[in-house]
Amino acid sequence: MKKLLITGASGFLGWHLCQLAKSKWQVYGTYFSHYLDIPNVKMLSVNLTDIQELKGIFSQIQPAAVIHTAAHSQPNFCQTHPQESDLINVKASCNIAGLCADYGIPCLFTSTDLVFDGCNAPYKETDPVSPISIYGEQKVMAEQGMRKIYPLTTICRMPLMFGRATPTAQSFLQPFIHTLKSGKTLNLFIDEFRTPVSGTTAAKGLLLALEKQFPGILHLGGTERISRYDFGRLLVDILELSPEKITACHQKDVKMAAPRPADVSLDSSQAFAIGYSPLLVRKELEMLIGN
Ligand SMILES: NC(=O)c1ccc[n+]([C@@H]2O[C@H](COP(=O)([O-])OP(=O)(O)OC[C@H]3O[C@@H](n4cnc5c(N)ncnc54)[C@H](OP(=O)(O)O)[C@@H]3O)[C@@H](O)[C@H]2O)c1
Repeated sequence: MKKLLITGASGFLGWHLCQLAKSKWQVYGTYFSHYLDIPNVKMLSVNLTDIQELKGIFSQIQPAAVIHTAAHSQPNFCQTHPQESDLINVKASCNIAGLCADYGIPCLFTSTDLVFDGCNAPYKETDPVSPISIYGEQKVMAEQGMRKIYPLTTICRMPLMFGRATPTAQSFLQPFIHTLKSGKTLNLFIDEFRTPVSGTTAAKGLLLALEKQFPGILHLGGTERISRYDFGRLLVDILELSPEKITACHQKDVKMAAPRPADVSLDSSQAFAIGYSPLLVRKELEMLIGN
C-alpha cells in the first residue's frame, strides 16, 4: 500500500480520516500535545511548526501523498493568539506545500467556510474570499501561500463538522448533548447558518478529492443549509426530549473574541458531481446518536 501522511491525526477530523484511509493506504498520522494510538496507523509525535522536524518526517516516511488537517482550529483562540496560531495555520501549511512540491506528491489542505464574510451565501469556489476573523484570514493566507508555492495543492474548504468524540477530540455535539442530558436548555442562534456534515462524511470527501487528484479549490459542505437553532431542534427530536429544551438567540446576544459570519453555507455542487454524497443532517444524527 502507498504511504499517506495525515497531519493532525489526534484532532477531530484527522482521527476520522485515519479510520477510513487505513483500508487503502499505509497511514502515518501526526500528533503534537495529545498522544494517542490508532490501530493500524503509525503515529508520530511532531511539532509541525519546526521545519527541521517537518523535513525529518518527510525524509523518514517518504509519503506518496499528504492530507494536512493540523491547525489551531478555534477562531476565538486565533483572534486572541494571532502570532502563535499563524505559525501552524499559515507558516507550517506553506512549508508542507513546499515539501510536497519537492517530493512531487499530492497535497490536500483543509481550509474553512470561514474564508467568507457570510453576506452572500451560498458560496461557490469561484466567489472572492472575504474573511472577517483572524482565523479566516490565516486560512486565506495559507490557501494562497500554498498554491503559490505548489500550484497543484488541493484546497478543500470544510464546513462545520460534528460527530462522535474521538479519544483526544470532540465536536460541538458532545457539549450540546451533555447540556441537554443534564436537564438544561440550549440557547442557539437562529440567525447563523451553515452546511454541516459529520466527520466521517468530511473524511470521505477528502479521500475522494485525493483519489480524483482534484485540482484547485473544492467545497465539501453538506446538502442542507441549517441554523444552529434548527440543528438543536433535530437533536432534541432524535433524543426524544421536549422541543422547549432549545431556545432561540441571535448572534448579537453572545459576545465572542472572533466575529462570526451569519451565513457561510457552501455550494458544494462540484464535489457532488464527482461523487461526494453527504446524508441529510437528520440521518447523520440518527446514525450517530439514535436508538
Ligand atoms: N471542526 C470544524 O468544524 C472545522 C470546520 C472547518 C474547517 N476545519 C478545519 O479542519 C481541520 C481539522 O479541524 P479539527 O476540528 O479536526 O481540529 P482539531 O480537533 O482542533 O485538531 C487540530 C489538530 O492539529 C494538531 N496541531 C495543532 N498544533 C500543532 C503543531 N504545532 N504541530 C503539530 N500538530 C499540531 C493537533 O495536535 P494535538 O491535539 O496533538 O496537539 C490536532 O491533531 C483544521 O484545519 C480546521 O481549521 C474544521
